[in-house]
Amino acid sequence: MARSRFPLRLLFVGFGNVGRELARILAERNAYPALADLDVSVVGLTTGSRGALANGAGIDLRRALREVEEHGRFTPQNPDYASLDSLKAAETLDYDVLVEMSPLSIANRGEPAILHARAALERGRHVITCNKGPLAYAFRRLRKLAQENNAGFLHETTVMDGSPVFDMARSCMRGNTILKIDGILNSTSNYVLCAMERGQTFEQGVRGAQEEQIAEADPSNDLDGWDASVKIVALANVLMGADLRPEDVDRESMSAITPSRVSEAKKRGFRIKMVCSAWREGDTVKASVRATEVPLDHPFALVDATGSIVRFETDLLGKILMTEENPTITTTAYGVIADLYALDSGSR
Ligand SMILES: NC(=O)c1ccc[n+]([C@@H]2O[C@H](COP(=O)([O-])OP(=O)(O)OC[C@H]3O[C@@H](n4cnc5c(N)ncnc54)[C@H](OP(=O)(O)O)[C@@H]3O)[C@@H](O)[C@H]2O)c1
Repeated sequence: MARSRFPLRLLFVGFGNVGRELARILAERNAYPALADLDVSVVGLTTGSRGALANGAGIDLRRALREVEEHGRFTPQNPDYASLDSLKAAETLDYDVLVEMSPLSIANRGEPAILHARAALERGRHVITCNKGPLAYAFRRLRKLAQENNAGFLHETTVMDGSPVFDMARSCMRGNTILKIDGILNSTSNYVLCAMERGQTFEQGVRGAQEEQIAEADPSNDLDGWDASVKIVALANVLMGADLRPEDVDRESMSAITPSRVSEAKKRGFRIKMVCSAWREGDTVKASVRATEVPLDHPFALVDATGSIVRFETDLLGKILMTEENPTITTTAYGVIADLYALDSGSR
């Protein structure tokens, strides 16, 4: 079993937006006084197409960032250059925490991230995943594996970036049964709806989201409700004991929403929002993603552009809301840091 107290040695799987921002924060941690006790090093780093690095004494993160910036990949001149794919790294390197930051593949039902997580947990190594696939397609299996191997399996970044959604439920809401979760959890669709309220077309809204790097080149996962489905399934599986898959969600695409429908709703005192929900029905949990007319004085109506919101309805605590305004990639990277502190404090 790996250590769960600092110092912790990390294996990065993925070095895209999140991995690079996390590396930047770690490389510049002296600029963040409250990170003084964050005693971690990165001993392995794998990517899809940019090569891999490994060094048990700690990779030079500034050099790694510079090489990707200047050459688009790690260079063989780097003393830490390694011939290593992600699964082999997970199976063979000596690390304490695998940080899963590869892209989610719905077509591949969360793979290969699930394989990476399984390889680490079987060796008693902790896993922090930013990739939602392991929660949406294999949460029960991986949690059991983590328990059997006395390892942590953490995932704060997967929903609402670094906001402490899971930590709040885990630490501050103990003893409550969550009856319902709903929220606005997809930035691209909310951004496009807000753009249409300002008089833009659907296509202009999508282009704006792409220009601001909120939406991917192929935004269909967001606009067709897949991303929101994956997130509500992650919340339901972790916090409501559900065993849902994204395909089980009653999902509505937003492609049929027109600017005239948006402005007509606004004239009547409503904003249209893509609301995802999970609720108990007898012994099961059901989930949906729906275009919903929200009254202007409802907290969900205050969520603009890239913001998000989640509401828990509980038996003891009533309704609790958490909202996030204008998240950045730093917010996302912080979610991993929060999980590292959770490992260090033993709350996993
Ligand atoms: N961006 C956000 O704000 C945000 C928020 C919450 C959660 N997330 C989740 O965090 C994860 C990372 O997001 P991102 O924005 O950093 O994605 P990204 O920019 O697309 O980067 C993904 C990285 O994973 C690498 N990769 C692909 N397949 C791999 C494999 N088999 N093994 C190892 N690495 C592999 C890619 O390699 P190449 O560099 O060679 O392409 C790239 O370095 C995603 O699952 C995303 O859904 C992101």
